[in-house]
Amino acid sequence: MAMPKVLVLKPLPEEAKRIVRERCEMFEPQTFSPSREQALEWIADAEGLLTNDVRIDAELLNAATKLKVVSNQSVGYDNFDLAAMKERGIVGTHTPYVLDDTVADLAFALMLSAARRVPELDAQVKQGKWGQPGCGGEAHYGVDVHHATIGIVGMGRIGEAVARRAALGFGMKVLYNARSRKPAAEQAYGAEFRSLEPLLEQSDFVVLLAPYTPETARMIRAEHFARMKPTAVFVNASRGQLVDEPALVEALRSRRIFAAGLDVYEHEPAKAGNPLLALPNVVTLPHIGSATAKTRHQMAVTAANNLVGALLNDRPVHVVPELRKNGGGPAQ
Ligand code: DGY
Repeated sequence: MAMPKVLVLKPLPEEAKRIVRERCEMFEPQTFSPSREQALEWIADAEGLLTNDVRIDAELLNAATKLKVVSNQSVGYDNFDLAAMKERGIVGTHTPYVLDDTVADLAFALMLSAARRVPELDAQVKQGKWGQPGCGGEAHYGVDVHHATIGIVGMGRIGEAVARRAALGFGMKVLYNARSRKPAAEQAYGAEFRSLEPLLEQSDFVVLLAPYTPETARMIRAEHFARMKPTAVFVNASRGQLVDEPALVEALRSRRIFAAGLDVYEHEPAKAGNPLLALPNVVTLPHIGSATAKTRHQMAVTAANNLVGALLNDRPVHVVPELRKNGGGPAQ
């Protein structure tokens, strides 16, 4: 039997390549970031696609008449037009679990860096300013993380991993907002459910970890920043589109809130003209939530197994919840 043709638009480690090549004919082009036109041309012949940023919509599916499976090498799948994929019966998979703790670590890194002004002071030391008036003094005082109140918006697996660190490691009070109550987190971490506005008012750290969907788009706007404490630190490790970015800029510029730690932006890569990049009270990272060698390797292997398993139906795969046929568990 002929092996299914697959297009791989992420650089894969050898182990993941081997998984794909054992069962599929793999096309791995010279560039992993093709133009849309080029991607549409390449996809025409493919039954499977491995990516995490190609938009899978009606236009692409019209060009991809043989396509059966899209394996996203990420936990987020906001590049999926779920309705169009459902209509065409495309299987869409992602890479949950393997990155939960790594992204939770990064959320904490942003909290600590923004609260204790780590990049700002690091730059001063490197510029030889240690010992000069002001460096590290009152003008650079931060805010405490330990025993503060954290408000987690979006209490999925990563949210729970953040709650665990906050409650058990830093003695923090944990508030959360989610579509449903999380009894296990309430019991294990003393997490208390709040609707959004009280959570914003009561939290010292607001950490955004909700997925990007039509319902969560721009869910944090000027009126939400207005409710936060002036000493609050805002962290976004989910997707930039959840936030009205000009409103965030204004809240930071006017010191309506103390600081922000950002891994994600409305437009990525964030360009030099983005006003967020010019503010001293913002810690900026280039969307690296899952970027450790071990986790990225595990994500690639998971994505390769998902691609092959969904095409050949020979192993469990992580179909995204909205596209599961039987509404069953996470791996099917
Ligand atoms: C994800 O997996 O969705 C993270 O944002 C990294 O891309």
